[in-house]
Amino acid sequence: MDNRSDKNLKYTIITWGCQMNEHDSEKISGILESLNYTPTSNREDADLIIFNTCLVRENAELKVYGNLGELKALKRKNPELIIGICGCMMQKKEIRDLVKQKYGFIDLMFGTHNLHKLPELIANNKQSSRMIIDVWEEGGEIIEGVPAKRKFGYKAFVNIMHGCNNFCTYCIVPYTRGRERSRTPEDIIKEIEELAQEECKEITLLGQNVNSYGKTLEDKTTFADLLRMINKIEGIERIRFMTSHPKDLSDELIYAMRDCSKVCEHLHLPFQAGSNNVLKVMNRKYTKEKYLELVSKLKNEIPNISLTTDIIVGFPGESEEDFEETLDVVKKVGFDSAFTFLYSVREGTPAAKMEDQVPDDVKHRRFKTLLDTLHPISHENNIKLQDTIQEILVEEVSKNNEDMLSGRTRTNKLVHFKGEKDMIGKLVNVKIDVAKTWTLEGHIIEND
Ligand code: 5AD
Ligand code: SF4
Repeated sequence: MDNRSDKNLKYTIITWGCQMNEHDSEKISGILESLNYTPTSNREDADLIIFNTCLVRENAELKVYGNLGELKALKRKNPELIIGICGCMMQKKEIRDLVKQKYGFIDLMFGTHNLHKLPELIANNKQSSRMIIDVWEEGGEIIEGVPAKRKFGYKAFVNIMHGCNNFCTYCIVPYTRGRERSRTPEDIIKEIEELAQEECKEITLLGQNVNSYGKTLEDKTTFADLLRMINKIEGIERIRFMTSHPKDLSDELIYAMRDCSKVCEHLHLPFQAGSNNVLKVMNRKYTKEKYLELVSKLKNEIPNISLTTDIIVGFPGESEEDFEETLDVVKKVGFDSAFTFLYSVREGTPAAKMEDQVPDDVKHRRFKTLLDTLHPISHENNIKLQDTIQEILVEEVSKNNEDMLSGRTRTNKLVHFKGEKDMIGKLVNVKIDVAKTWTLEGHIIEND
């Protein structure tokens, strides 16, 4: 099969959702560039537009429909344009049927498990001019060797596992990403060694629940083992990972984080809700006390660790007292930041059928109280960094001011400082002068 053409074909990908989706889009880019497509950020210029969709909350889904409507005019102007939709939304038959019925101009629909089939799907569409729908219900064996065109050279996402077995009752992910499967340590190490050779400094290991890494492997390598192996790879300076599930965060992992010099002092540890009643109905399999105990162990072993989290407000049945428990966890832990969500009904999940849904006005009121509690804590934590020297991986030139750079501390805080463009991708030492709620400002000091 040969999809190559003399014409300079251009593609654009619009991505919604989590880092897993972002990385899938990097793989789609890699596939398209191997077919001689080149990227464009302008939809009007594109010969191929891909929407990589998210289903985790209703908002994300509605945004995709809004954007799809707008593509119809582009297709009318350029009938050769190929439009594809992929990602989590495509894993639901009801959504595929709706898209087929309402947006008949779409050319390709594929799912989360078969990105690697894209060249074949494009070729089939070109040949037949019909809508091509190819969605696999389950993931099966992990497909290795899909090329990724990464957005940045100095930092990279690396999948270590796919899918989720946890079935938190609010969450659609186990239905869209399938059962948990781990890549072998050999495949992961090989990919990271190659990245290190290309001067990549920071890797973020991705999985829905990285703490249960290895359970599907014959040799039962644990996530802690994996961190220790990756820590030895020369050239890599920083190791991050997400997401962690408190029920699977072992002491062994905390010790590996403590011992591995390249593992950053940051942990994203979603707690979702503070009330044990709510946690139980969410099927989270830990209690508030267990979560707080983990936090104190982490703080003991890794004294300057930064903790971030995910919190849902307004889960069915959440009472005012339950919500107070969430605020209590927020205050006791002192999170550096949090992703906060209004509970969103997802058809097909157990929570969608629960009777005592929380009214919207109550959800919004609690949401505001939650933010008002979180923000001063973030600010206070940042103030503690004033006058300290932080190692920063320089990421980019500021959008508004060409003399200004931005980068992140090992604890994942965004810092702005003056510097030259050629510092991008390098590690520098920055003294922090100003602490704001979300960002820090400082100046570079000489490396010793
Ligand atoms: N409603 C609100 N938030 C949700 N999340 C997952 N499902 C839902 C839902 N139905 C949040 C959780 C998860 C994060 C990725 O998204 O907090 O950790
Ligand atoms: Fe969803 Fe829970 Fe799995 Fe996270 S662990 S992806 S919240 S089901």
